[in-house]
Amino acid sequence: MDKALRSVLHWWEIMGVDVPEVRPARQRPAAKKQGQQAVKTPDPLPAARAPEIVKSASTLEELHARIRDFDAGEISDHARQAVIYRGNPAARIMIIGEAPGRDEDIQGRPFVGRSGQLLDRILGSIGLSEDTVYITNVVFWRPPNNRNPNPGEITECLPFTQRHIEIINPDIIVLVGAVSFSALTGRTGIMKNRGGWITLPANGRDIPALPIYHPAFLLRQPALKKDTWRDMLSLKARIGTVPDRTG
Ligand code: URA
Repeated sequence: MDKALRSVLHWWEIMGVDVPEVRPARQRPAAKKQGQQAVKTPDPLPAARAPEIVKSASTLEELHARIRDFDAGEISDHARQAVIYRGNPAARIMIIGEAPGRDEDIQGRPFVGRSGQLLDRILGSIGLSEDTVYITNVVFWRPPNNRNPNPGEITECLPFTQRHIEIINPDIIVLVGAVSFSALTGRTGIMKNRGGWITLPANGRDIPALPIYHPAFLLRQPALKKDTWRDMLSLKARIGTVPDRTG
């Protein structure tokens, strides 16, 4: 698509106009036409490469750059950009959600749409803000048409998420929603596990982690907000007991 046209569409989207998805996918090898010689194409899904790639990221900037450059197949082909984080990289609390949606894809920051606004209010209820948390997702690209990220895509991004945790080295992790909970624990069942403290290993220690409902789910089930309010009180109490390692 013409660059000028794309920038007009992008501007309309920022202004709230519902522009259909017309972005072309990132260049892929052309499909073989009948009678043509088979063309040797590069492996389109470099899943096995993510664990190798993260090894070369020793700083947050390097990790962000590796994520931005990563070819995650369909999701990174269709997304406008990698959505990596917002908040304070020096924060003690790391919030890990699912995957960017439309607003996040446009703005390049996680949790900035309706569910993000609710997340901010939930965190704000115990005095947390972008200055005191680091917010990211287990998947860094918006899945096409807001479908759920599939298990392959989640697994593919996981080495980046694990390295992300090691580099941020938070005192407390909040797992936002079922996908984040399952991706990082290998377990299912957010309904029965929310509000229960678990630990996630990183940097040779066990980091306390709290699974909570996803705000998008709470928007559909507002009666369950009372559970999240309890979880926030539990988080607040825990913050008070975990020694601050940031000095
Ligand atoms: N939902 C998520 O899980 N993450 C976002 O960034 C936005 C919506």
